[in-house]
Amino acid sequence: MDCLEPLSAHDSNSWHPHLWPPFTQIASATPPQRVIAADGALLILDGAPPLIDAISSWWVTLHGHAHPSIAAAIANQAQQLEQVIFADFVHPQAEQLAARLSSLTGLERLFFSDNGSTAVEVALKIACQWWHNRGEPRQQLIAFNGAYHGDTFGAMAVGERNLFNAPFEGMMFPVARVPWPATWWGDEEVESRERIALAELERSLKTPTAAVILEPLVQGAGGMAMVRAEFLQEVEQRVREAGALLIADEVLTGFGRCGAQFAFKRAGLKPDLVALSKGLTGGFLPMGITMAREEIFVDFVGDDPCLTLWHGHSFTANPLGCAAANASLDLLESNPKSYEGFEARHRPHLEALAKHPKVQRPRLVGTIAAFNLAVDDEHGYLNPAGHIVKQEAINNGVFLRPLGEVVYLLPPLCLNDAQLEQCYVAIHAGLEAL
Ligand SMILES: Cc1ncc(COP(=O)(O)O)c(C=O)c1O
Repeated sequence: MDCLEPLSAHDSNSWHPHLWPPFTQIASATPPQRVIAADGALLILDGAPPLIDAISSWWVTLHGHAHPSIAAAIANQAQQLEQVIFADFVHPQAEQLAARLSSLTGLERLFFSDNGSTAVEVALKIACQWWHNRGEPRQQLIAFNGAYHGDTFGAMAVGERNLFNAPFEGMMFPVARVPWPATWWGDEEVESRERIALAELERSLKTPTAAVILEPLVQGAGGMAMVRAEFLQEVEQRVREAGALLIADEVLTGFGRCGAQFAFKRAGLKPDLVALSKGLTGGFLPMGITMAREEIFVDFVGDDPCLTLWHGHSFTANPLGCAAANASLDLLESNPKSYEGFEARHRPHLEALAKHPKVQRPRLVGTIAAFNLAVDDEHGYLNPAGHIVKQEAINNGVFLRPLGEVVYLLPPLCLNDAQLEQCYVAIHAGLEAL
């Protein structure tokens, strides 16, 4: 088949002969649907009814699809300056974004990269090199069981070792692991699980540690596994006592997803490094950011070239991405209720759903509502029950993408009450289909 053949000439029920889809085994997956437009919370499909994007297209779409003010900001910027090498030049959109994010996070320095994985890579490299630059090299990193930090090698290494990275097991650096005491409504044993996790953390911290990395309040890909703020504060206290750095991976949780500007703020943490992406540009353009404390930055400055952070990407601080991010921050600042009030909107629906016999471990933080299906757990991420719920939800006009037996909603902020209701009706239909 000619690779220049127009897309519309393909059979919409088959796999494209030249595309290699992400995170997909095409031998068993359903071919993708063709989307021709999107508007607000809706994906407009070719020859099928629209779908509510109830997971914000892999958690990136923040305000809604095709938001006119972000689209206009990108278009406007594209006519002025689309890209420039950021090692030799700076531009107003990047300066403005740096000042705004520094004031919002309390971390003074901003380093740009391209996506969530690279934002994490940069955080890990800064942490390790910081110790090196100070002349007391530390290389141990501590991460939590069930974590997901991305698919590049360093990000993979600090993530949970599982089926997705098994072929590379021997190539990833060692990382100390600590249990993640996830909790849910009605959980009566959370405190004992937290104590076990903290004891494990204390043991690991006896080895000089460069940094501890965590997803504040909720591990996303690890199954929307939520922890209490109190636990995270205890973690931070131990990290401080050991003199290690704390890295908050806010790639998913940032920009209102957890009901506050950042999950680390809601949890009462003061991390040294913060990784940002996904909602950063409102979900319009790929961009990663690593925020760092000034005290870290100063140890990279000096006459010795070895002090330099020798890291950079071609598209560093892409002006279109920066313009999108500034426009997205404008929207967040003009309407904080859009994320602060989301948890209260979910709550009555989730409370009703929690009564269903197939619903276990209901949990909620900010815009993210989740539960486990009461089904055979042995398949984990590949559990087919999630697939059944997904198909039934699609039949009811809602796009979900369960993580194995974990069903969750993580919708864009523009979702209206009728659409939210429709999401829960669709999940209910999925449960009845099991
Ligand atoms: C917490 C977290 N960190 C990092 C990443 C990686 O981001 P990206 O897919 O943009 O590389 C993800 C992606 O889902 C994530 O959820």
